[in-house]
Amino acid sequence: QPERKNFADRLEKALPPARLALLKTIAEEAHRHRLPIYVVGGFVRDLILERPSIDFDLVVEGDAIALARALEKKYGGKVTSHSRFGTAKWQIGAIRSALIEKMKAEGELRAEDLPDSLDLISARTEFYNYPTALPTVERGSIKLDLHRRDFTINTLALRLDGRHYATLYDYWGGMNDIKKKLVRVLHSLSFVDDPTRMLRAVRFEQRFNFRIESRTLQLMSEAHDLLKQVSGDRLRHELDLILAEENPVSALNRLEELNLLSAIHPDLHWDASKSDALWRVLKEPLDPAWQIPESLGNQPIRNALAYLVWLIPFPPVSSRAICERLKLSHHLQNAILAGNHLMDELPQLIGQPPSRVVARLEEAPIPALYAIVCLCPGNEICQILNRYATEWQKVQPLTDGYTLHAMGIEPGPVYRRILWALRAAWLDGKITSREQENALLNQLIYTQIIQ
Ligand code: CTP
Repeated sequence: QPERKNFADRLEKALPPARLALLKTIAEEAHRHRLPIYVVGGFVRDLILERPSIDFDLVVEGDAIALARALEKKYGGKVTSHSRFGTAKWQIGAIRSALIEKMKAEGELRAEDLPDSLDLISARTEFYNYPTALPTVERGSIKLDLHRRDFTINTLALRLDGRHYATLYDYWGGMNDIKKKLVRVLHSLSFVDDPTRMLRAVRFEQRFNFRIESRTLQLMSEAHDLLKQVSGDRLRHELDLILAEENPVSALNRLEELNLLSAIHPDLHWDASKSDALWRVLKEPLDPAWQIPESLGNQPIRNALAYLVWLIPFPPVSSRAICERLKLSHHLQNAILAGNHLMDELPQLIGQPPSRVVARLEEAPIPALYAIVCLCPGNEICQILNRYATEWQKVQPLTDGYTLHAMGIEPGPVYRRILWALRAAWLDGKITSREQENALLNQLIYTQIIQ
């Protein structure tokens, strides 16, 4: 007999009044249609762990699309549905204020506390015809719907309709495992159905400071090789989620310990000596003097920096292969490879004049340089990179292309040579004033033109 505890108090405390009112409005409508409706998964787990999140998934024992359409008819908004999966998305963004008016609830309701949209899902059973395939879907009971999920801690459901409001349904021992702090699969083929769950297991284990239960750990070690069949996009998505965790370092350490990274690609490892650097790029303020852009391509900069810190120390052949495996963006791949090559060459820059440093670093993406500085803080190379990024990079002569044109010089490659020679002279302290620049300019024009 499943546990039937009431969680009304916790639910009321966890959600802003407007979200709670929305949940109740939907539950009321479901009840009118005699449809059992549940909030499931991570939301319930987090509610019990007292680390409430506000995003919820709703599962209906019956036709979720019909329920969404009924809500749309009564309250407005727009429904899009996916009949094969029995799922509906109710977009309420545009009617948020109107919805607030219609929801007869107590408490201060703020339209901005409502989500843009809500997913309503018909309880379903999924069958995997072969490992890593897309599942075949059939309508089912909430109990079976919960059974197809990854871990017991994610199988808790809070029923919302009618007198069942806020009753906890615990069919698969989720409560017990939360109490015992265990990440446990529901059946022995869980990782065969979806090998990315191995990465999720580590993420949840480290996030909640749980342990992966021993049989589950055994199943993981047997399923390792299935990660080889998973697409780069799906793996990268899981790694991105890990990098976005509060403590990504502990999750990476654990992935390494369980040999899951080398299952993704034989050369991929996590080396704990990079922990400080990873922490710096993910959690600490980025040095404002570097003026690091907010994104690399269209990837948020901290996520890109994390991959840079992780992959730059690898030999170029390995990191190229890993980039391919994880289908990293071209921008990121280029930055990683630029960083790989620089790691070897940087020692040669020690003692060189600034113009030589600028000439070598000019093409390197700034985030790659920042990652290198975070990897080897305080050493001589790091000081050179710092001066390059914050000072030398910005040094430009007073003369520009227009000046040369006004002086009657025919445009061509000679412009670049003259301007670079002036810039190099400033960088190396050979000139320090407009007069000296003009004198050098005249000299350069003379030598360049008679050449
Ligand atoms: N799920 C699964 N197998 C996967 C991914 C997800 O069984 N490979 C199930 C999980 O049971 C999860 C639900 O789908 O509870 C929703 O997935 P997601 O939103 O990723 O899970 P959350 O638990 O909400 O994760 P997070 O706290 O990181 O948002």
